[in-house]
Amino acid sequence: MKIAFGCDHAGFNLRDAVLKFLNGRNIEIIDFGSKELNENDDYPDVAFKVARAVSDEEAEAGIILCGTGYGVAISANKINGIRAIACDSAEGAASAKRHLNLNVITLGGRFTKPEEVDGILSAWLDTPFEGGRHLRRINKIAMVEGSTLSANLQSGGRVVIFNHPLVQHKMGLIRSVETSVKQFRELLQEIAGLMVYEITRTLPLAEIEVQTPITKTKAHTIEGRKLAIVPVLRAGLGMVDGILQLVPNAKVGHIGLYRNPTTLEPVEYYCKLPFDIEERDIFVLDPMLATGGSSAAAISLIKKRGGKKISLVNLIAAPEGIEKVHSEHPEVDIFVAALDSHLNEHGYIVPGLGDAGDRIFGTK
Ligand code: RB5
Repeated sequence: MKIAFGCDHAGFNLRDAVLKFLNGRNIEIIDFGSKELNENDDYPDVAFKVARAVSDEEAEAGIILCGTGYGVAISANKINGIRAIACDSAEGAASAKRHLNLNVITLGGRFTKPEEVDGILSAWLDTPFEGGRHLRRINKIAMVEGSTLSANLQSGGRVVIFNHPLVQHKMGLIRSVETSVKQFRELLQEIAGLMVYEITRTLPLAEIEVQTPITKTKAHTIEGRKLAIVPVLRAGLGMVDGILQLVPNAKVGHIGLYRNPTTLEPVEYYCKLPFDIEERDIFVLDPMLATGGSSAAAISLIKKRGGKKISLVNLIAAPEGIEKVHSEHPEVDIFVAALDSHLNEHGYIVPGLGDAGDRIFGTK
């Protein structure tokens, strides 16, 4: 785990205690200073550095110190995707993590004693985020600020929501009951294509040399990373072409599951994956993450066949589905265009868009 850290002069008295705590846990530290006491430093400067490191995902979380913990928290919260508050007790830190998935904790050097640091930071790091309705709530905040950052601490899988205006505009159209089968199909491919930008954000680049008509220059190429997309039949098929348009070399596997009418458990009826699946970054496609039963089962199936690096791509997810997938596969990143409210008594996502399979293939 990597944590970004910083302090101003009024939090400096806690600096050693924090660093000692982090070193004791073998946590990698990005230290933005101040490394020496400087009575003239201003807390927003260091707060922004730490918060940006977390927002840019250079660090998984941040710790910032000032006199009260308040000024750095206010500053950090101005940066996209940051949820920072000042904690002066272990109870407060645990609760903030449980409900808010606090990704930046701030401490006040005037309120907290060095010997209290371990208890507060341990409570923050060791308490798991509860997800569920709390995830829905913090994602409402993320939607307002236009952030896609909802990373969990402790190297858990992330839930990344695409709130790009183009995606959200198309989501409005695709949800509408007025949208025809043809339009629905087109919109689904378009949204899936737009989601590829975020999904492929972390692909490593290699530098290459290119001859332009004018001169030679350095450019970049995606570094020999192999991708596989695996639609869950049948609705997942509706996302394949949109993604292949942008990553044409990705291999495509297929998984078919049906729900046993008695046990309601998903049962495999078809599975064909690329032969080298264990080497590939795998994206499981399923427009609707409702109960999460079939997505979780599809991921288990891929793991059984050797798949290691697996993410899930959905158009709409319900908190119940996210919880189910993360309870069985906590490391899996889930990429969604919308996180909806809940499931109704028939297992449909509310507000949702109905049955994606029926709407793609016109079967209802
Ligand atoms: C600096 O004196 C102090 O104002 C600052 O560290 C912080 O407490 C602000 O909230």
